[in-house]
Amino acid sequence: MSGRTAVVTGGASGIGEAVSRRLAEDGALVAVFDLNGDAAGETAASIEKAGGRAIGLAVDVTDRAAVDAGVAETRARLGRPTILVNSAGRAVVHPYLDITVEDWNRLLAVNLTGTFDCCQAVLPDMLEEGWGRIVNISSSSVHGGAARMAAYVAAKSGVVGLTKVLALEFAPRGITVNTIPPGFIDSPMLRDTVERGFVDLEQQTKQTPVGRIGRPEDVAATCAFLVSEEASYITGQVIGVNGGRNT
Ligand SMILES: NC(=O)c1ccc[n+]([C@@H]2O[C@H](COP(=O)([O-])OP(=O)(O)OC[C@H]3O[C@@H](n4cnc5c(N)ncnc54)[C@H](O)[C@@H]3O)[C@@H](O)[C@H]2O)c1
Repeated sequence: MSGRTAVVTGGASGIGEAVSRRLAEDGALVAVFDLNGDAAGETAASIEKAGGRAIGLAVDVTDRAAVDAGVAETRARLGRPTILVNSAGRAVVHPYLDITVEDWNRLLAVNLTGTFDCCQAVLPDMLEEGWGRIVNISSSSVHGGAARMAAYVAAKSGVVGLTKVLALEFAPRGITVNTIPPGFIDSPMLRDTVERGFVDLEQQTKQTPVGRIGRPEDVAATCAFLVSEEASYITGQVIGVNGGRNT
């Protein structure tokens, strides 16, 4: 993917950070978009220190104007983005009857509408180039649900549906769209749910056929393949990275 420009949302932490680093190692010019602009800058600086090319931008994916401005700045500084990885996300655990409509809307805004907006903002550049790769990070919870995570699972299930629709609409134009639903990846988000007592890591490890929790790099490697030239015949697919928990 040498010389291609990639946008990675939520690119300053966990899975998104690993994806940013991996795509840069593989030769992409990477725009790290994150709500946390300082962390985005630090990730970009560390990629550059390692010999890659990256910029870090404070972009809240729930703010369409900020997304459009981030894409314009990426185009000006790194060239047309033709790779997009949507990893920005938030998970909240609430019993269903306690979820307010504000909680519901907030979760959908980040996880689903943010993905919709970022795809819509970057697709015109991909169409112009006649080539594009989108990978949406959903969640293994879409396979079987997750109690007390109604808004999150609904949003991530929407991401799977959106992925399939975009794949059909844009396949004839050289653009592939796939989703990775990861399961139990060791990231700050997972550590936070462990610390708050929502997840027992030891028990989850026992329930994972490969016998370990996933690493952000496991997702990044899958993502690197899906955005490669070689993956041009793979689109509209749900590619689980979950240690065999869901098949
Ligand atoms: N870790 C897991 O086990 C797991 C499992 C299933 C799905 N996921 C999904 O993977 C993705 C990455 O999660 P992670 O585990 O790396 O979490 P993480 O919390 O380490 O990283 C998420 C990043 O997204 C950023 N972010 C949050 N809201 C944002 C917004 N509005 N605009 C821009 N950036 C925003 C955060 O600042 C953070 O840097 C998420 O979409 C998450 O739902 C993770």
